[in-house]
Amino acid sequence: MNLHRVVYYSMAAPGLSMKDVDEILKKSNEKNKRLFLSGGLLYCQGVFIQVLEGGLTELNELLIKLYADVRHQTITILEFVPIQKRQFEGWEMSMVFFNSSRDFQDEYMKYSSTSEFHPRFLNAPQWTELIQDLLIQKRLKSRKV
Ligand SMILES: Cc1cc2nc3c(=O)[nH]c(=O)nc-3n(C[C@H](O)[C@H](O)[C@H](O)COP(=O)(O)O)c2cc1C
Repeated sequence: MNLHRVVYYSMAAPGLSMKDVDEILKKSNEKNKRLFLSGGLLYCQGVFIQVLEGGLTELNELLIKLYADVRHQTITILEFVPIQKRQFEGWEMSMVFFNSSRDFQDEYMKYSSTSEFHPRFLNAPQWTELIQDLLIQKRLKSRKV
C-alpha cells in the first residue's frame, strides 16, 4: 500500500444539523474500514478538520467525493504527503465534537500562539497531533465512566 496522509479543513454547510454529522460519521466508519482508511475528525464552531491516512488511490477517490459533498464547503488541503507509518492505526474515523474552542483551549494552546480558533493557525502536523491527543483523551474518559 502506498501510504499517504491528507489533512484538510472545511466549513460546514449552513444549517447542518447534528443528525447530519452523525450520518457522516456512520457512513465514514463503514466505508473507511472497508478501504483501510484511518483518521480523525474534529468539528468545532462550524469548522471540520480531518486527518485521513491510507492508500494513495483510496485517498484521492475519497477527496473527489468530499469535494462534491454539499454538507461542507471551501475545502482547504493543508497537507497530502507520503508517510511511513499510520498515526491513527485502529481508528477508522473517530470524531471529537466541541461547541466552542474554549472546551479544548489547553490542548490548542500547546500549538497555537493565540487563543483565537482558526484552522489556518495550526499547520498539518500540529492538527494531526492535536486531533490525536483529543481522541486519546475522549477514549480514556469513556473508559472511566
Ligand atoms: C466533513 C466530512 C467528512 C467526511 N469524511 C468521510 C470519510 O472519512 N470517509 C468517507 O467515506 N466519507 C466521508 N464523508 C462523506 C463523503 O463526502 C461521501 O458522502 C461518502 O464517502 C459517499 O460515499 P459513496 O458515494 O461511496 O456512498 C465525509 C463528509 C464530510 C462532509
